[in-house]
Amino acid sequence: MDIISRLNTRYATKAFDASKKVPAAEMDQLLEAIRLSASSYGLQPYKVLLVENPEIRAELRSAAYGQSQITDSSAVLVFAANTAINVETIDQFVNMVSEIRNVPKEALSSFGDMMKGSLQNMSEDQIEIWVSKQAYIALGYGLVSAAVLGIDTCPMEGFNGPEFDRILGLEKLGLKSKVVLAVGYRSAEDQYQHLAKVRYKKEDLFLKF
Ligand SMILES: Cc1cc2nc3c(=O)[nH]c(=O)nc-3n(C[C@H](O)[C@H](O)[C@H](O)COP(=O)(O)O)c2cc1C
Repeated sequence: MDIISRLNTRYATKAFDASKKVPAAEMDQLLEAIRLSASSYGLQPYKVLLVENPEIRAELRSAAYGQSQITDSSAVLVFAANTAINVETIDQFVNMVSEIRNVPKEALSSFGDMMKGSLQNMSEDQIEIWVSKQAYIALGYGLVSAAVLGIDTCPMEGFNGPEFDRILGLEKLGLKSKVVLAVGYRSAEDQYQHLAKVRYKKEDLFLKF
């Protein structure tokens, strides 16, 4: 597999073919790739909502300035940051590390204290920014993995976050919608697929020291 040709073939799909559904096995692979995303301390302070229900998607589309990708794609993934992260969340995470790696909890106490310390040093706004960044890393995993799998996507932040949160009932879960990945297959009519990539030249992007 040539990763560069896959990344050149992918583009932010504006028009999906609404008749095409991503097969469940491929969708599973995409979700698994997203699950494997790296995150700060490994905390994964976000959830990824898989929205397939047509009525909910119609509502979300209205809250996304009418963008057709929300209803015409095969599925919509909403990356929602866990802005309610707190010391209990960190304790639960430390327990999970302890179980999965078979390490006594006591051996992880300084790791837990370090994470709690850095959380306690942040304002609510700083926490929201930090957890949102982690959600965007997961988005990046999704974008690249979909390209590798031959699945088309559109990353989207053109939507009203509080409206999405209301429609999906996220407030009670301590979550805030941050970014969306519409997933499916391009329409043959989508002219955007023919546009050349606009990217800085290597020498303008990579500054060598
Ligand atoms: C975080 C993010 C948000 C974006 N939001 C939207 C959006 O709301 N609607 C849309 O049509 N494209 C959206 N895009 C797509 C970009 O416009 C597109 O990725 C960029 O122009 C580069 O083109 P390419 O992805 O086709 O190579 C978004 C991209 C990113 C990474």
